[in-house]
Amino acid sequence: MYDLDLHTGKQLPLGRPLNKEQFMNKLICDDQAQAKPFLRWAGSKRSSIPKLADNSPESFNRYIEPFVGSAALFFHLSPKQSILSDLNPELINLYKQMKERPNELHSEFTRIPRDKETYYSIRSRLSGKLSDFDRAIFMLYLNRNCFNGLYRTNKAGLFNVPYASAGRGGYPSADDFISCSERLQSANVVCSDFQSLIKAEVRSGDFVYLDPPYIKSSGRIFSEYVKGHFAHQDMGRLSDTLRLIHDRGAYFLLSFIEDEIAHDLVKEWGAETYLVQRNISGFSSGRRKSSEIIIKNW
Ligand SMILES: C[S@@+](CC[C@H](N)C(=O)[O-])C[C@H]1O[C@@H](n2cnc3c(N)ncnc32)[C@H](O)[C@@H]1O
Repeated sequence: MYDLDLHTGKQLPLGRPLNKEQFMNKLICDDQAQAKPFLRWAGSKRSSIPKLADNSPESFNRYIEPFVGSAALFFHLSPKQSILSDLNPELINLYKQMKERPNELHSEFTRIPRDKETYYSIRSRLSGKLSDFDRAIFMLYLNRNCFNGLYRTNKAGLFNVPYASAGRGGYPSADDFISCSERLQSANVVCSDFQSLIKAEVRSGDFVYLDPPYIKSSGRIFSEYVKGHFAHQDMGRLSDTLRLIHDRGAYFLLSFIEDEIAHDLVKEWGAETYLVQRNISGFSSGRRKSSEIIIKNW
């Protein structure tokens, strides 16, 4: 049922021979310096990178990340060609501005006073009429100063995360921004629902890393009111999407919480469980180890 990758000896999804271009992609990946994610993001996979990198294919065609968040795995792998996507338009606008204008973004954003009063003033202005560049500055400022790197909106779609008086950490440097921008040059950045993106884009030999928001059989972990935000009713769409990726001869790697809700996926594809330190509530008492799973098709 599987082809063998002649370079690594690993099994590949059916119909997915390694070609010269993919081999080049691997060599170029190895030569590039990695960049650190510039966002704090609830559900970031920063602490799981060694596990995820170990479970990424040795070589592939394009890298596709449909739930991109802070793009921790993308910045680590630094692939030659990629598509990064998310349903959150503010986040995608910020990636586009970071790609094109990292220096200006850094100097404008670091100029804004880092205090509670300014935070709430900027928060109320995010919903107003702004240029794409100013919206990106505000989004970045709010992300770096809000409670626990959360992105949450109220029913009217307005960002409503409170100011974090502690635990915000220092800002990334201008050089960090430039490294991120360099990595993003080869990325196509898109605002889309995950399933539409995969249907439209995935081709044989691509590698798709999926990291949907974690939901549990007993309820969602973070409440979000963004229309189309991944929820219980999307588990069937996720399952169809994994099959589609496999049938097109591409690789997938899925991260999920270990929970009954993923039972059918685990039964179909198998899974590996591992423990990860998570900061659920933003307080040290909320730091706990949680069991996560990875599911892949090779
Ligand atoms: C757990 S986070 C991804 C974290 C990312 N792996 C990282 O390292 O930061 C999940 C992301 O999925 C996005 N999302 C939620 N529903 C979506 C949907 N239906 N289609 C695409 N993206 C969605 C959220 O906006 C969020 O950024």
